[in-house]
Amino acid sequence: MLLAAAEAALRAGSLLQELFAQPHQIRHKSVIDLVTEADLAAEELILEILHHKSPGTKILSEESLATYDAIPDEPVWIVDPLDGTTNFAHNFPWFAVSIALYAEGSSQVGVIYNPIQQELFCATLAGGAWLNDAPIRVSEISLLQNALVATGFPYDVRKRSDSILAMLKTVLTHSQGVRRPGAAALDLAYLACARLDAFWEVGLKPWDAAAGYLLVEEAGGTLSSFTGSPFSPFIPELLASNALLHEELTALLREFSTAAR
Ligand code: IPD
Ligand code: CA
Ligand code: CA
Repeated sequence: MLLAAAEAALRAGSLLQELFAQPHQIRHKSVIDLVTEADLAAEELILEILHHKSPGTKILSEESLATYDAIPDEPVWIVDPLDGTTNFAHNFPWFAVSIALYAEGSSQVGVIYNPIQQELFCATLAGGAWLNDAPIRVSEISLLQNALVATGFPYDVRKRSDSILAMLKTVLTHSQGVRRPGAAALDLAYLACARLDAFWEVGLKPWDAAAGYLLVEEAGGTLSSFTGSPFSPFIPELLASNALLHEELTALLREFSTAAR
């Protein structure tokens, strides 16, 4: 399954890189939520490869197979064919493919590929996390004032900008810096390999986090809701850190939690 996911991510990543150099066809799913020809082409290729490599396994995928309502009770591929669509549409070279195999209440395999930097992040449950051919670990920064933290903004940001800006202000004024790179899968992959020390976002979908959260856990990090309750890619509230920063961050963010306590 890891090899199938990696092959699909690498081939879709090459396709995205090729399409990145050409003019884009952009359609609006909502005012600021876009889909391009590349999202659709990468998805088609990934689904074809996964159907071929693991016939019969269900697929949840952002653009064409996006219906879900509960935590799945049978194995399912969870696919984001292009994470960072807004970046892609603006020719900002920061995006990735994310593929996870989810079964028995947790991701079993997670693969994230950044085709511009040619970086392939992989993890398997209890098997560790890797960047290309090297094992990765989260950072050892233990104070938030020394930490570089990432976040992202959901597409309904205009409806809840007060709490999103309040969280941003809180973390910005307690950390060394905050980044908003624009691809949640890469935010998690960067946390897993110690280039970031923590990440939070509200409103993520399963395909944004299903591969990245396994990378973070397998690299020694921790994920939860803002209150510290257990994380799942099926709940729309994510706090991830190198574990050492988790207590400080939950203390700051718990008042913004909308997850069940
Ligand atoms: C988005 C990106 C972005 C995050 C949004 C996601 P998409 O995914 O991961 O960083 O802030 O919440 O929806 O739409 O580019 O696949
Ligand atoms: Ca996404
Ligand atoms: Ca996407």
